[in-house]
This record gives sequence, structure tokens and C-alpha cells, in this order.
Amino acid sequence: MSEPSFRTIIEPFRIKSVEPSRTTTRDERERFLQEAGHNLFRVRARDVLIDLLTDSGTGAMSAEQWAGVMRGDESYAGSPSFFRFEEAVRSLTGFRHIIPVHQGRAAEKILFTAAAGPGKIVPANHHFDTTRANVEAVGAEAVDLPCSEAADIATGHPFKGNLDVERLENLLRQRAGDVPLCLVTITDNTGGGQPVSLENLRQVRAVCDRHGVPLFLDAARFAENAYLVKLREAGQAQRSARDIAREEFSLADGATMSAKKDGLANIGGFLALNDDGLAERARQLLILTEGFTSYGGLAGRDLEAVAQGLDEVLDEDYLRYRVRSVEYMGEGFRAARIPIAEPPGGHAIFVDARAMLTHIPPGQLPAQSLACAFYREGGIRTVEVGTVMFGHTDAATGEQVPAPQDLLRLALPRRVYTQSHVDYVVEVAAWVAAHRDRLTGYRIVAEPATLRHFTATFEPIAG
Ligand code: F0G
Repeated sequence: MSEPSFRTIIEPFRIKSVEPSRTTTRDERERFLQEAGHNLFRVRARDVLIDLLTDSGTGAMSAEQWAGVMRGDESYAGSPSFFRFEEAVRSLTGFRHIIPVHQGRAAEKILFTAAAGPGKIVPANHHFDTTRANVEAVGAEAVDLPCSEAADIATGHPFKGNLDVERLENLLRQRAGDVPLCLVTITDNTGGGQPVSLENLRQVRAVCDRHGVPLFLDAARFAENAYLVKLREAGQAQRSARDIAREEFSLADGATMSAKKDGLANIGGFLALNDDGLAERARQLLILTEGFTSYGGLAGRDLEAVAQGLDEVLDEDYLRYRVRSVEYMGEGFRAARIPIAEPPGGHAIFVDARAMLTHIPPGQLPAQSLACAFYREGGIRTVEVGTVMFGHTDAATGEQVPAPQDLLRLALPRRVYTQSHVDYVVEVAAWVAAHRDRLTGYRIVAEPATLRHFTATFEPIAG
């Protein structure tokens, strides 16, 4: 008999250990919001029912990862856990030097301190915000060169994460001597978790080769990128995600990695690269800031969890479920006529709050208003990716200078929530959408000098 085929894509795991979630009332949540200055970063996690603030470090570890935690060897130097980690990263990436760090931004800080500096330029499809901040912190300039399709939120394109190779070519023709490396973020988080095609990576590689510039990956979501390549890129459907992931890395000279995403770990990361001299400088910086070269700010048990996670993340049952759950949430939003960034990416749905709440002008923070509504009505925590995060207050007028877009990100932690959790999120979203006229704009009450979204306080503008 032929293999029967069923439509339902299930969570490919059984649940062995559970963590209760806590239901609160709308009145309680209204009070929590007020106490938090209407900033969801200031709300306590115990007061959140479904936490979609980030997919970073929030995933569930497998039984094998917990077994690795027990096996973890805590020797200061040369721990067996380090060699297991090194082997896992090397067999995946093929890079010569494997440097553990406590999370992605530590790899970024070390890489840009060792490779960049004043007068240097680092081009990328999109720099994630910590990446940009680390480039700028060493006096260099971070230049985003997204493909033209990336700017159109509503229109689907399979590879909106692609880098514009023509603009890269122009930049390198003029300034290659000032470019220590080119970075490609897979998937492009800032652009909506959108993948980069292998074809684009090959083209970027060719441009970099012509100008003698090394190519690095920000590989935080390399497995989701590989699976989206398998689904969306012509000629890739028959390949395994593992094989595609290996090709992604083989096209680069090095990578930074936050293992809090596709490492399926709660903490960890690495810097991996081929250049001996750069690796030597990076290891010196590592010892200064993170720790010795065989643990880099992690415990041996963390190295074990990452080593195991890097293998599990390329399991095709897992990736099918992962990508499908994000798409499923997107379908629910579309059915409720809520405008989202199209197509759904690998880790999150981004709602176009500016298009959804047309009665709230960008200067009155529509995505912040929507974030508060999702929490107030349904206990769901999301993150504003818009004027609060990327805009600023005009010093002269006190008005908000809006960001190009006002999005609300709902990031799905890995292996944590089930389909009924997602159904609930969609139901809350539909309810908020049906009552959107009641939502008002927000104003900033107090804000810090930098990275204001983490700590600023807000108040609703009386409607
Ligand atoms: N690169 C990308 C593409 C990221 O999304 C992140 C983190 C980092 C680097 C930094 O890694 O947090 O381990 O230091 N993104 C999280 C998020 C914070 O919510 O998207 P980290």
C-alpha cells in the first residue's frame, strides 16, 4: 500500500514537562499596564499569558538537551563539552576557528572590534539593532542594502531578505578598501524574518570576491532560512535543510551566531571564521571580555545544550512544524483582515499597525497602541517595531519623528506554544481589530537617551 498522506502538520514532540500559565482579568491587566508605564518590557512575565515578545532564548529544550546539561563538564580549560560544541559548529559551518560566546551580540562586539574601526563601512542586507550598535560603537558605519522588494510590506516576494547586489557592487567599487567585511543576516529579522536565497548569497559572494572583501553571515536563524530556501527556491525542494544550511555557510568566510534562536538554547552563541589572524585577535578580546577560549562566557552545560540544539534544529519534522506555525498564525490574521508583512517569515508575524489603525497618526505611536491592546484584551505580549524603537523625539518641537514603518512583531518561541495557543492569539487579534476604533494614540511621558523602547514610559492620549 502507498504511504497515506495527511494534511495536519502536528507539533512533532510530546510534552514531558509543563509550566503553568496564569490567567489574569482585564482589570488586572489594565492596572499592570499603568504600573508599567504602558511599556510591555516593564510588565512582569508572570502577568503575561502568551509571551510573543521574542523568540530569543525563550524556546523549550529537548530531553536530549537536558541530558546534555547533566553531562556538562565544568572544567575551566579544555572541557569535553567544549570539544563537543566545537565539533557540532565545525561540522555544520566548516569554519576553522570556533569561538564560543555568551550570546550573539558578544560575537558582534568582538568581530567588529577586531575587524572594523573609524572610517570603515560594514554593508549588510539589514543589520539587526545590536549589530548596527556594535558597528557604530567602534566608529564604523553600518549601511543597509536591502533589495527593493523589502520596502513593500503588503506585497509578497519569496526572498525579501536578499541584499541588493547592484548597490553592493557600487559601494565596493568606490570604497572596497574601507570595507572590512560584508554581512548577510539570515533570516532578515529587521525586514520581517524574511529569507535570503542561495542564489543571492552566491551573487553577494561573487561581488565580494571581485573586490577582495570577506563575507560573514549573521546566522541567528540559519535553519529557518535553509528551510524557507527548500520551500521557496527553484531547484531546492529535494535537498535536505542540513545540506542547504551547509551551503549557506560554505559561501561565507565566517559567521556570528546567537544560539538563543536556531541553537534552540536559552543562552549561547559563537563567532566562527577562517582567517587565522582575525581569529587570534578575536580570541584575545574574548579572554578580556567573555572568558577563556574553551568556554567564552558559558558554562559547560550551556555548550552541551547548544551542540545538541544545532543538530535538532535541522530536523525536517521540526522545521516543517516551525515554519507552518508562523504561516498558520499569518493565515488567521489575514482571515481577520489584519494587514501583515507578506509573506510570513520564519519566526514571527509582523502586523502593519499604521495600515490597521489609520486613525492614529505615526507620531502617536500606532504600534505601541496595538501592543497595549493585545495585552489589555488578551494578556498577549508583543513588541513594537516602529516609531518607538526606530524613531526619535524632535529636540526643538517635542514631536515624534516617525520611523519608516510602524509594525507590531509577534515572535513565536520555539517548541513552546501549541496550535490552540495560536488560535487564541488569532481570536484576540480579531477582537482587537473589530474594536479598533476605540484605540487611541499614545504619547511618551519619559524616555532615556538611547534604546528608548526598553525603558520609556507612555500614556494614552484621551480619545
Ligand atoms: N542578530 C539577529 C538577527 C538577531 O535577531 C539578534 C537578536 C541578534 C543578532 C543578537 O543576538 O540577542 O543573542 O545578543 N534578536 C533578538 C530578537 C533579541 O528579539 O529579535 P543576542
